[in-house]
Amino acid sequence: MRTNYCGEIDKKFLKQDVTVCGWVHRRRDHGGLIFLDLRDVSGIVQLVINPESEDSFKKAEEVRSEYVLQASGTVNDRPEDSENQALTTGSIEIVVSELTVLNIADTPAFPLDKHSEVGEEARLKNRTLDLRREKMQKNIKIRSELTKNIRNHLETKNFLDIETPILTKATPEGARDYLVPSRTNSGNFFALPQSPQLFKQMLMISGFDKYYQIARCFRDEDLRADRQPEFSQVDIEASFVNEEDIMKISEEMIKDVFKKTINYTLKDLPRIKWCDAIEAYGSDKPDLRNPLKLVELKHLFAKEEFKVFSDPANSKDSRIAALIVNSADSLGRGQIDRYTDFVKQFGAKGLAYIRMEGDKVEDMSSPILKYLSKDCLESIHKSLSLKQNDLIFFGAGKSKIVNDYMSKLINKIGDDLNLISDGFEACWVTEFPMFELNSDGKITSLHHPFTSPNIDGIKELENVDPLLINSKAYDIVINGYEVGGGSIRIHDNAIQERIFNLLGLSDKEVSSKFGFFLKTLKTGCPPHGGIAFGLDRLAMLLTQSESIREVIAFPKTQSAICLLTDAPGLVKKESLEELNIEIKDE
Ligand code: AMO
Ligand code: AMP
Repeated sequence: MRTNYCGEIDKKFLKQDVTVCGWVHRRRDHGGLIFLDLRDVSGIVQLVINPESEDSFKKAEEVRSEYVLQASGTVNDRPEDSENQALTTGSIEIVVSELTVLNIADTPAFPLDKHSEVGEEARLKNRTLDLRREKMQKNIKIRSELTKNIRNHLETKNFLDIETPILTKATPEGARDYLVPSRTNSGNFFALPQSPQLFKQMLMISGFDKYYQIARCFRDEDLRADRQPEFSQVDIEASFVNEEDIMKISEEMIKDVFKKTINYTLKDLPRIKWCDAIEAYGSDKPDLRNPLKLVELKHLFAKEEFKVFSDPANSKDSRIAALIVNSADSLGRGQIDRYTDFVKQFGAKGLAYIRMEGDKVEDMSSPILKYLSKDCLESIHKSLSLKQNDLIFFGAGKSKIVNDYMSKLINKIGDDLNLISDGFEACWVTEFPMFELNSDGKITSLHHPFTSPNIDGIKELENVDPLLINSKAYDIVINGYEVGGGSIRIHDNAIQERIFNLLGLSDKEVSSKFGFFLKTLKTGCPPHGGIAFGLDRLAMLLTQSESIREVIAFPKTQSAICLLTDAPGLVKKESLEELNIEIKDE
């Protein structure tokens, strides 16, 4: 239907006849002449329609935004004063000899030019329009480029692309399952995979050595800007490997795709132990572009009278974290109050602070000075090497809560004071604890139950407090986002069973949920390990988007619905009957 794409026509085409197809981006009627900006996947070209070409002119008069056209004509220079240097096609125009309206269009729900701000609800409801906008076209193209580069990289390293089932049994990754009722096995349900974890391990047991897949994963969990109920993983597994091997494979891949996709050179990834990350950033997803860090000062307050600090100082699961902001003279009292309100949303009881009016201990100013001993103030001053205009915030209380709000405060102040550098800072987080305690006192896996503990043998597992055991897991974090996580797996059946028991699963549960898997572990399972990258999160970073919804063509909302199709929806009574399902009245 066309000889060329709109966006490729430049001065090289002068005097040539071309045919282009696309959507009407903008229409301008200049008395005698009609100008149409025609847009397709490649860009925009200007069409000019003269009244002399009568039939085309008549049609052009009727044309509205987003009508679909085919236009044939001759490429001409634009008059000098109407050149547009911002466009490849900005110095030419097509003088139309024949215009065909391929389809009409309703008035668009919102204008498609890049200057108009449109609410997300309207965008998601009218996604086919929204996706035509320049930014979204660019995002989806970069995502496609990213996927291609990942595939090329892994293919050249001899990874085999193998598909795994979508209708399957539950794979525990910490979220709720999406369930699918089985018609042929009444009362039974498939679970959609939270990840292909067990299948990729079974592929190693099957002797495939190196596997990858761009896999769809489904998790029913609280959604955020970087989480969707269905998302894509670059899922990787290899046999006869240790942690170093997988980290090397991953690092090479991630550097290669950053270079090939956006021409960015990632530095070598530093490694940060999990406990060090928590101490310094309050989070295992540190944003290394932000210079702000926490310093643990618990040891300075044990003997103080000020209960706000001495209570946590004397409690095992608590901490006192100091956050120093240098050159903070721009942060006035009002701003400090706003930060206090900010951290209170996340469970803080208050946000003590000390301001340095000069360099010396005597230059400290704060409402809490009167509660603290001189020795204590001197120790704070010395430990933190304080100087004029430093502002120190203190988070004191249960470590989990303090870490949560102080890490958020680090991000907020970093943003507010423009401390976050441009570009990308990636790192590995390593030496994770194997387990953590839930709020109900039960132990759960920090990664998943197939992660290998870092122990010498099953004996150690039996004799040591499980909460003190580390795992052979590693996460890759870029700009504060966890973009990938993986581990060396348990390949020993007895250790795997023991881990299930530690997690509180009865033998019966183990057998019904994972019996098939334990059996395969006994058929000659090689040592193996792997990792999975969040493809959507990578695309979000590469396109510098605020949310993964900006890089997914048809995403769901925070409440896990699709505004375009209105999914999920009700089903007919007959379909439910076939499935032997009854809906309870509320
Ligand atoms: P994990 O649960 O860490 O590991 O997931 C791997 C990566 O997937 C991305 N991710 C998500 N992206 C968008 N929306 C979500 N809801 C979501 N959840 C996770 C993250 C994360 O780092 N089977 C293991 C991997 C392994 O051990 O090899 C797993 O799924 O970027
Ligand atoms: P209060 O005794 O509650 O008036 O608190 C005295 C100071 O300590 C105030 O500046 C509070 O903001 C601060 N504060 C109270 N609780 C905490 C806490 N858990 N962590 C840090 N600062 C706190």
